[in-house]
Amino acid sequence: MCYAIPGKVVSVGKREVAVDYFGKKRIVANHFFEVCKGDFVYAQGGFVVDKITFEEAKPVLDAWQKAFQGLEQTDAGTNYAENASIQNTNFSEILQKNSLSKQDAFELMSIESENDLACLYNASNALRRKKLENSCCVHGIIEFSSYCSCNCTYCGLRVDNKQLERYRMSEQDVFSAAEFAVKKLGFKALVLQSGEDFSYSDEDLAQIVQRIVSNLKVLVFVSVGERSKACYEKLYKSGARGVLLRFETSNPSLYEKIRPGKKLEDRVNLIKHCESLGFIVATGGLIGLPGQTRQDLVNDVFLAGSLGEMVSFGPLIPHPQTPFAKESKVNKNLVFKTLAIARLAFLNSKILVTTALETLDEKAKREGLLTGANSLMINVTPRDLAQKYSIYPNKAGVDLPLQREISQTINLLRSLGRSPTDLSAKNVIQ
Ligand code: 5AD
Ligand code: SF4
Repeated sequence: MCYAIPGKVVSVGKREVAVDYFGKKRIVANHFFEVCKGDFVYAQGGFVVDKITFEEAKPVLDAWQKAFQGLEQTDAGTNYAENASIQNTNFSEILQKNSLSKQDAFELMSIESENDLACLYNASNALRRKKLENSCCVHGIIEFSSYCSCNCTYCGLRVDNKQLERYRMSEQDVFSAAEFAVKKLGFKALVLQSGEDFSYSDEDLAQIVQRIVSNLKVLVFVSVGERSKACYEKLYKSGARGVLLRFETSNPSLYEKIRPGKKLEDRVNLIKHCESLGFIVATGGLIGLPGQTRQDLVNDVFLAGSLGEMVSFGPLIPHPQTPFAKESKVNKNLVFKTLAIARLAFLNSKILVTTALETLDEKAKREGLLTGANSLMINVTPRDLAQKYSIYPNKAGVDLPLQREISQTINLLRSLGRSPTDLSAKNVIQ
């Protein structure tokens, strides 16, 4: 969003540059711009997405310089809970370890008492602060088609849901939505999401991406489901640099139950292929699936962290027009535990607070950011269509005017002391 900080290029490599942000240096990939030492750039997700002049950068930097330190102080003084103290020595030992085993994670996943949960969340929040400082990525998401050829048992877009009124945006409409999000709202990273809709050919998708990347200054993620490896290669060549593709569950037999006719192995292989192509991979799964065990969730966290640098877990929200209509509401602590364990296991990951988590409970966006998460998404689909993209009912955020949702998010980030930067620790130069 407009909530972003430009950095000064301090050295230039072949496909990467070193960038200075108020004395903190980061290495950022540069695939799209001619950049010299002394130039100012905006980076997102580890990529240069825009180059600006000194005159453009100066007022933004001046405005941020003061705010930056203030935010760090706010973050330093903000915890999930103030008066929690570890009484359980077993947890205390686990929380002090440098690396988390699956056995440790299982122990943490079994925590139930409010005090112990608060200690876990405080620990994961402290680790987020120590490793990744107070940066928080905010991506926009455009849901461009609600048609899907799959029949996932949890999802309102499943092909058997004949009651859903579907839509499909044209290339021009997707471009206009992206242009509005980038030029008017200031987003620097966009996710283009749809059901598995093969009425867009690979070429159609590539053209949409290429038009956005070559005309707008933005990092593009695609989230278009299980398409061929060749399709993802095309999308990378057309300029997309991120893929959001969840494996949903790491339990192969549960996977076959919830995604009839599909195999977990194919999904995981595709995710690995995307990573090997150079995409930033965002992946994860659903929490609260019927039959899912604690051990499954622990395995999910470890699989997500090993496959991608961005981790996305959200609760199942039962959709009335799916076979899971009568499933019970997920306890939000199960989601927070998963986020916290992901943070303890994968120190440098970007961890998302998903819209499904926000939908589960109105306080969960704030709480998720205090249990280890450091990334958010805002829905920038034209509002009338966003309501129809009914993966699950009552999606958070889309009933508010977009500007209100954005200003509420900015206020939330400020109150928590988070800065909307891409100062990820992964590429820190000491
Ligand atoms: N509740 C929560 N998340 C859902 N998704 C699909 N249906 C639901 C639901 N009912 C998620 C899936 C998918 C993403 C696009 O939306 O995890 O990967
Ligand atoms: Fe389609 Fe994705 Fe929904 Fe499955 S989860 S029905 S693939 S949109």
